[in-house]
Amino acid sequence: MSKFRSAMVKGKKARLESVKTTSTRKRSKTSMKEEDSPEDLSSYHTFPDPADVLQLRSQLLSWYDKEKRELPWRTLATTESDLNIRTYGVWVSEIMLQQTQVATVIDYYNRWMKRWPTVQQLAAATLEEVNQMWAGLGYYSRGRRLHEGAQKVVSELKGEMPRTVDNLLKYLPGVGRYTAAAVGSIALGQVTGAVDGNVIRVLCRLRAIGADSTSTAVTEALWNLANLLVDPIRPGDFNQAMMELGARVCTPKGPLCSQCPIQSHCRSYQKVNVKQEQTSKKLLGKLNAKTSVLPDIEECLNSGACQLCPSEPWNNELGVQNFPRKPAKKAPRVERTLTCILTRIGEQGDEEHLLIQRPNKGLLAGLWEFPSVLLSEEKSDVKQKKALCDDISTLLGTLLTESRLHYVGEVVHIFSHIHQTYVVYSASLKEGDTKEQAENTQWLTRSALQEAAVSTGLKKIVKLFDSVESLKGISSQDVKKRSHPGAKSEKKLQTSRKARMAAANGGGKQLSLSSFFKTMKEECG
Ligand code: ADE
Repeated sequence: MSKFRSAMVKGKKARLESVKTTSTRKRSKTSMKEEDSPEDLSSYHTFPDPADVLQLRSQLLSWYDKEKRELPWRTLATTESDLNIRTYGVWVSEIMLQQTQVATVIDYYNRWMKRWPTVQQLAAATLEEVNQMWAGLGYYSRGRRLHEGAQKVVSELKGEMPRTVDNLLKYLPGVGRYTAAAVGSIALGQVTGAVDGNVIRVLCRLRAIGADSTSTAVTEALWNLANLLVDPIRPGDFNQAMMELGARVCTPKGPLCSQCPIQSHCRSYQKVNVKQEQTSKKLLGKLNAKTSVLPDIEECLNSGACQLCPSEPWNNELGVQNFPRKPAKKAPRVERTLTCILTRIGEQGDEEHLLIQRPNKGLLAGLWEFPSVLLSEEKSDVKQKKALCDDISTLLGTLLTESRLHYVGEVVHIFSHIHQTYVVYSASLKEGDTKEQAENTQWLTRSALQEAAVSTGLKKIVKLFDSVESLKGISSQDVKKRSHPGAKSEKKLQTSRKARMAAANGGGKQLSLSSFFKTMKEECG
């Protein structure tokens, strides 16, 4: 080690010693706890100087006060004096915001709170109503868990929402460490940090934490940091300010570092500047043997053995985006599902489609879908179409043969872990075809379908069906007219429907199942 580097390291160690005493002295002022700064953690990844913590809080909160978006749950948290409603409302918002963008959540949240303004009202709703309200928001178990939680609060806690982070965790299904901390701090003023995806990014960049952000060591370090930094007087605002910063300034791509209110604390930003300085000095030939003094770049003293340092070298092109690091994503499972839009003319003369309710557990639990079978690579196309027809025949107590299925097209829908392709067919039933009806099925008109608890995938299937229909020359005027009873005679109706179905069968090039699976395998490696 050069004399200079060795002096720097010694100097740093001395500074660290003095920091330890300073931070112990000032601990009560910044409400730090002993476990917040583990002795074996390099100060490079923490905030050893309490003055920095105080400054960061003040800079971040001033920025938030000026820049924050007015969001309905924020308004509720600051204006609602009833603690029970406040906690309920923030809980609803946090569950909706798990995996869904703020912009999408706003409308769902407003409609939800209008319909069920209290936890008691939600508890009294049916799961079907909840699913209906949730339709299109995705990750449907979230709505079911809110409903379950509300019923638990009413039956076990006399309608009183839990009042601490521990009890939120204990009583509410679907509430984990982050959600409990967010609700506890925002609605109840509990002094705790809250680490969600946005906060992970902000903290990793702030303290140059580049190891796998899903590892236990990094997760614990981030929660310790969040607990150290959180403002004891405005914990909810502080946490929301961190999220806001992550969502609007410290973004995954194209971060706006020049607008960052806490830029002066950011180790990644410092690193970018130092690296740039080094590069330009090299380019100008100034970094020669005589003056080969590198700028004072602070580094982790423990980097070789540090559980928070990146294992990969710094990439100049990425800048602050060197942090955080995530392990490579697992490739989604590839599935292909055969589905059928079955149509009949209902008693009122309107077209109706057959829907089946999914089981109460698992993917899209309790939602309504068209009759479907999951395709398998091992079975032939013909066999699988037959299996679907057999299922439908059993449901309706009638015989539906494969020759009555008309190919419509394919719809791709990506779930978080599944790449799903729906192979869509349509079939129309004749009068008298629907002798029986299984209990988990219903026939819905188009307008009822719009309101029903159905997934986004199903809505895409309907959209495809309609676009194929209109391509076949059926004007929307015609469709509208036909949806009014008495607008056309039954005979004419049947004729135009027949023409449409025949037309639907004519177009669309279908990939065989085996060639589809081959293509997918090639695409997904
Ligand atoms: N994401 C999660 N919680 C949030 C909140 N309260 N405000 C904005 N975005 C969020």
